[in-house]
Amino acid sequence: MNVTEAVQSRRSVRAFLDTPVPSTLLREAIELAARAPSGGNLQPWQIFAIAGEPLQTLKDRVAERLQRADPSERPEYEIYPSNLWEPHRTQRYALGEAMYATLGVGREDKIGRLQQFARNFAFFGAPAAVFCYIDRRMGPPQWSDLGMYLQTLMLLLRERGLDSCPQECWSVYPRTVASVLQPPEESMLFCGMSIGYADPDAPINTLQSERLPLDQFAQFLGFD
Ligand SMILES: Cc1cc2nc3c(=O)[nH]c(=O)nc-3n(C[C@H](O)[C@H](O)[C@H](O)COP(=O)(O)O)c2cc1C
Repeated sequence: MNVTEAVQSRRSVRAFLDTPVPSTLLREAIELAARAPSGGNLQPWQIFAIAGEPLQTLKDRVAERLQRADPSERPEYEIYPSNLWEPHRTQRYALGEAMYATLGVGREDKIGRLQQFARNFAFFGAPAAVFCYIDRRMGPPQWSDLGMYLQTLMLLLRERGLDSCPQECWSVYPRTVASVLQPPEESMLFCGMSIGYADPDAPINTLQSERLPLDQFAQFLGFD
């Protein structure tokens, strides 16, 4: 697989087989992904990989957490800016509609939508996951380094036949996640990531997300 094929075949998979992820493959990808660049070579990513019992414990704790309000648990950050503007607002809306359409869940079906959203917290059935933290004293440049690490990881996973779904939604329950992972005090949870083999028969995995056309996000100056 070349880089173009890895980029083109990576997509957010939201239904996984229960086939275990070989730990050697995951270790290899996590290690190699650290070849991602970072400003000043700070390498600000802090990675936790989980499977088996700790993964099940986390699923159980978050399922329990979803049943009751807990004012002591606050989201780590605001996931989207408030009053999202165009073209991002439409992109976000279009993704949601396209995703629920693959499942036949209509706009009025609030419960169906919530149930699908809750699948995030079961890692969409994936047998492994990664969580990415950063020291909360770091700023926007180091946060962008996390993105480079994570995309590199997802491409390396593709090369090994594995699929993934990055998940910001975990940042809503940082205390619940920390109760299992025990990260350092000053660490801040950026996201989780489900990892495994895509279920080829799951309708939600037919979703092909759109991209803006080139001329809407890039400008070329001084070329022929
Ligand atoms: C940092 C990050 C966080 C994300 N969080 C979630 C999430 O919580 N749940 C989810 O279903 N998808 C999540 N996604 C997946 C995006 O919706 C997806 O990347 C986007 O729609 C483009 O689709 P593609 O990944 O299939 O190309 C996240 C993606 C990124 C990069």
